[in-house]
Amino acid sequence: MSLLTIKEMDHALMKEVVDLAQSLKKEGNRKREDLKGKVLISLYEKPSTRTRLSFETAIENVGGHCIVMDFKTSQISRGETMADTARVLSRYCDVISARLFKHTDLEEIAKYATVPVINALTDVEHPCQALADMQTILEHGKQNGKLVYIGDAANNVANSLMLIAARYGMHVVLCGPDGYHPSAEYLEEVQKTGAKVEVTSDPAYAVKDADVIYTDVWVSMGDEAEKQKRLEDLKAYQVNDELLAQAKSDAIVLHCLPAHRGEEISDSIMDGKYAAVWDQAENRMWAQEALMIKLLSK
Ligand code: CP
Ligand code: NVA
Repeated sequence: MSLLTIKEMDHALMKEVVDLAQSLKKEGNRKREDLKGKVLISLYEKPSTRTRLSFETAIENVGGHCIVMDFKTSQISRGETMADTARVLSRYCDVISARLFKHTDLEEIAKYATVPVINALTDVEHPCQALADMQTILEHGKQNGKLVYIGDAANNVANSLMLIAARYGMHVVLCGPDGYHPSAEYLEEVQKTGAKVEVTSDPAYAVKDADVIYTDVWVSMGDEAEKQKRLEDLKAYQVNDELLAQAKSDAIVLHCLPAHRGEEISDSIMDGKYAAVWDQAENRMWAQEALMIKLLSK
């Protein structure tokens, strides 16, 4: 079984993965043998720090091994198709993770692979991030509260996050200027959960009494051509002390990282009492351990 999006992820499996991630972390045993001898091939078309390292450490922690393949040094760069690459990789490994620009390329890989395929970020979703985000929200006891995503609320991280948080029954608020609101497709999907969902362009309204405030970069990988416009359009949406004054005093701030300090988030918030971003980054490892254990046992 593969994981391409939170949108298509089975609800029961999603909760099983988050629960297992929590118990793996609690146990803290990094010499497990659940996936002894299993091989992960991790593909990268875009840069990564956390995803790459957390996948590598996660598979090692459960007894497996990781091989990283960069597009630039592979035959993909010379035109080998996604389909043929997927067929070949499947002969060498037990699971594939892939970070790509186009989600349709990931779908192509999943179609031709004969092993589970995991989305390690595409232009549509970042489901592994969302699993770790939900783990972090539970760890901080905020799962019954109000979650506000502020900034580019149409990006991959926002798509996965809004769905997972709504499925857990959180009050979800998506806040960004016009042009940065979630797509009709994702809004419809999030509304199906029955959770309270709001879309607004007013940051002060959005964060009022919030329990979790989430932001991400204003210029995602692949959006560089629009950089100046995005920085201008989003400048009133920075997560900073002034904004946090509207939230609950024990609110937490999440960011998938990397942060562009001084753009979507201030130094004072990154380095201050609200930030749970380091727990969140660590949880990528536990969530992916749990995910691979579950996907390889289905
Ligand atoms: N959050 C995240 O996916 O980080 P990287 O881009 O460093 O992998
Ligand atoms: N939205 C960001 C997330 C990086 C982890 C991007 O796609 O670049």
